[in-house]
Amino acid sequence: MNSNIALPKHVKIVEVGPRDGLQNEKESVPAEVKIELVNRLSSAGFRNIEAASFVSPKWVPQMATSAEVMAAIERHPGVVYSALTPNMQGFDAALAAKAGEVVIFGSASEAFSQKNINCSIAESIARFEGVAKAAKQHGLRLRGSISCAFGCPYQGEVPLAAVADVVGRMRDLGCDEIDIADTIGVATPRQTQAVMRRAAQEFAIGGLSGHFHDTYGQALANIYASLEVGIAIFHSSVSGLGGCPYAKGATGNVATEDVLYLMQGLGIETGIDLDIVVDAGQFIAQFLGRKGASRAGNAIAAKRAG
Ligand code: HMG
Ligand code: MG
Repeated sequence: MNSNIALPKHVKIVEVGPRDGLQNEKESVPAEVKIELVNRLSSAGFRNIEAASFVSPKWVPQMATSAEVMAAIERHPGVVYSALTPNMQGFDAALAAKAGEVVIFGSASEAFSQKNINCSIAESIARFEGVAKAAKQHGLRLRGSISCAFGCPYQGEVPLAAVADVVGRMRDLGCDEIDIADTIGVATPRQTQAVMRRAAQEFAIGGLSGHFHDTYGQALANIYASLEVGIAIFHSSVSGLGGCPYAKGATGNVATEDVLYLMQGLGIETGIDLDIVVDAGQFIAQFLGRKGASRAGNAIAAKRAG
């Protein structure tokens, strides 16, 4: 930690629990529970909540209720509700569901692209062209997510050049924001900085986000390392929910409560009420019948209980 490095004063936290967090749950989570979770998160002050995924229900059954969820959530002014859209079928569903942002999701790894979305990287970009064009026509925000930017469960190492190439393609599609994702949570801080710096050569750093899974316990360290190179958007999942059905063994996203606790300590504004997020985390953990995976969330809840 170098105390001479200026960190961003504000960061945007994108809450991905209702989508990335729940998509991997084996038991079906009823739509009412997802709706309650999103409503609780909306009242916490997030500006962006990833609430839905319009993918094939055969591939990801847990997300089959996305339209129902989007129809029933309370929309808070100023909150963008995002949905994953791998193709035009997904885009049409997201548009009908009044998503404020659509997310095209590709990969820096050829092997992962095939496993996750059943096509090559080049084919995925060709598919995304229609989605990107339609998003612009309808005035929706467009976000591009790049999986396996730090390592792949199938091919291992992922070269910096491969990440840079996909960042450039996402930029050319007109993305407003681009996520650099550690799908399997293998990154470490110096590597994180190298990847973020390389990505920032292709796309304005203010529009790059860090999406860290916490499989190897490195996510908070990687977030701090990202702050040091100027990244100011991070994804996290309430109660540390999550995993990817096509990345075996990968655990949840970094827990939102832990990220908020870190930001508070650093004096970095998020605009989010940690106490409300702790309650939301306890709510969903209780529903799932297990202890939440957020260290800060569990500590705060235990302290409250006396
Ligand atoms: P495919 O089989 O190649 O697609 O799948 P297809 O066009 O041949 O269609 C096959 C069937 O899927 C058809 O149905 C279509 O209607 C249906 P059938 O005729 O067999 O009954 N279909 C759809 N249904 C609903 N919505 C759609 C849709 N598209 C086709 N949008 C496809 C290609 C991309 C659809 C498939 O591979 C898929 O759904 N994959 C989902 C992958 C996924 O959701 N992974 C998890 C999210 S990504 C992630 O978690 C990573 C991230 O967090 C960042 C990180 O951590 O790395 C974002
Ligand atoms: Mg993810």
